[in-house]
Amino acid sequence: MKKFIVIGNPIEHSLSPLLHNYWIKKNNIDAIYDKQKLNEDELEQYILQIKEKKISGINVTVPFKKAIIPFLDELSIEAESTQSVNTIYLRNNKVMGHNTDIFGFEMSIQKSKYNLKDKEVLILGAGGVVPSIIFALNKMKISKIKISNRTKDKAENLKTIFKNIEIIEWGEAPNFDMIINATSLGLKKEDKIDLDLSSTSKNKFFYDVIYNPIETNFLKIGKSLGNITLNGKSMFIYQALSAFNIWHGLKPDVDENIIKLLDQ
Ligand code: ATR
Repeated sequence: MKKFIVIGNPIEHSLSPLLHNYWIKKNNIDAIYDKQKLNEDELEQYILQIKEKKISGINVTVPFKKAIIPFLDELSIEAESTQSVNTIYLRNNKVMGHNTDIFGFEMSIQKSKYNLKDKEVLILGAGGVVPSIIFALNKMKISKIKISNRTKDKAENLKTIFKNIEIIEWGEAPNFDMIINATSLGLKKEDKIDLDLSSTSKNKFFYDVIYNPIETNFLKIGKSLGNITLNGKSMFIYQALSAFNIWHGLKPDVDENIIKLLDQ
């Protein structure tokens, strides 16, 4: 039986085992997908298990997507460009690191049917997932990306990788076509983002990377102001689908059961 695992800290909340095990069962694959909380000094031993073929694939989540890189043999262009790895596997006896968050974000936009070409995007946050979002947005030929983060230095650091972004002050709300919450504000039901969006005109796109709770206060405000809203569930599903495809060589179905499964 092949073994797969998601590593992170914390990890209790991860729904990756639920999703992967559902697809594993549905496709009659002899495998199991588990989760493991660990500390940074344990990363190397997990990579060793990939080399020794004791583990067939690893998903990496917060806060290790960058810290795992020194232990890998090769990176895909996406992982290299974002310095972020969420999917690991053995290819030609080399431990390969890839980033499927980019595909996840791209697919979620594609499924929403919103055309981002020549649009202005405001990203709130500068944490682990933001390089993947910027990379995907650049592929979609947006016209401008503005980033606002509580700790301005962290946003400025992103400029070393992505020259085209503009950093604005935390609390500022410039014009935008799409606004993305990539902060962890909203994970708790009562969380509110201190940003006055009341003068935003209608029909903008409010996107929250968070999918649990299903509708954050950020999305509630967006909806009440007459905008399109989307949570992070489809991004999560499609990053997992891409990892599944790499590991098992087949494309699993995204059916109604999946949506239900993740709404628990
Ligand atoms: P990391 O920053 O370790 O990569 P993350 O979960 O990927 O962790 O990112 C958390 C994001 O939410 C960051 O942009 C963080 O802002 P800081 O860089 O200033 O920490 C943001 N965030 C978390 N709590 C916040 C709060 N109370 N107010 C504003 N932003 C917050």
